[in-house]
Amino acid sequence: MRLIHSRWPQVVQYLEHCRGILIPTGSTEQHGPIGPIGTDALVAEAIALGAASRGGWLVAPTLSLGPAQFNLGFPGTIALRSSTMMAVVGDVLESLAVQGFERFYFLNGHGANIAAVNAACQDFYAQWSLGRRSAAAPRCRLRSWWEYPGADQMRKSLYGTWEGLHATPSELAISMAVLGSDYPYDEAALAQVGQPPPALTAEDLRLMGGDNHPDSNAHRSRFPDGRVGSHSALARAEAGQALLQAAISDAHQDISEFFA
Ligand code: NI
Repeated sequence: MRLIHSRWPQVVQYLEHCRGILIPTGSTEQHGPIGPIGTDALVAEAIALGAASRGGWLVAPTLSLGPAQFNLGFPGTIALRSSTMMAVVGDVLESLAVQGFERFYFLNGHGANIAAVNAACQDFYAQWSLGRRSAAAPRCRLRSWWEYPGADQMRKSLYGTWEGLHATPSELAISMAVLGSDYPYDEAALAQVGQPPPALTAEDLRLMGGDNHPDSNAHRSRFPDGRVGSHSALARAEAGQALLQAAISDAHQDISEFFA
């Protein structure tokens, strides 16, 4: 159930049997010539809502802006500073914790959120570590959907090394499944990405994990159409539906264990 569709007495009732909440995190940034700018947010949200409907959990509003300075050279990208992201996450945690929530599950769709969200959680815990709060300390967990074992295995078997790191065929396939006829299909753009981009090296993969990219000019000159080693044109809605279902199953299992 979406928190924004709920009435406050329903939240009171919910807290009587569950102290956990899902918080999808994404980004608003370019996803190559054929990918929607909101890909990371809409993929994370769809997986969170799917898992939540199985588990009967509440889903907080998707945090659909994140650190993305490296993509500012591509129109449509909106970047938060990492410090802003940490402040937003901290305020969300404080707001929900004061009402009795104790388990915060960040279902993530954007690499650059990982460092900021985990850092905000560390600062949140520090209040208990420093003796400023006496009740039992809450717990946070962040999982990026591509780490889920079933989804990870499926994307590797579908796309191999052409999965790459950004504007990936797997995330675009899930966007296609989620958006249906609202997906911004465009034949001319598709022709533009008919050829795969330059492949990433093992060193690239190591250095660029968690979107550890330099400034936007350097980023765009290295990856001129926005794809980072990903052959986006391999994305299909049917595979997206299968990836989505695999991720939902994995998420449901991980969240059940975390909330128990
Ligand atoms: Ni993405």
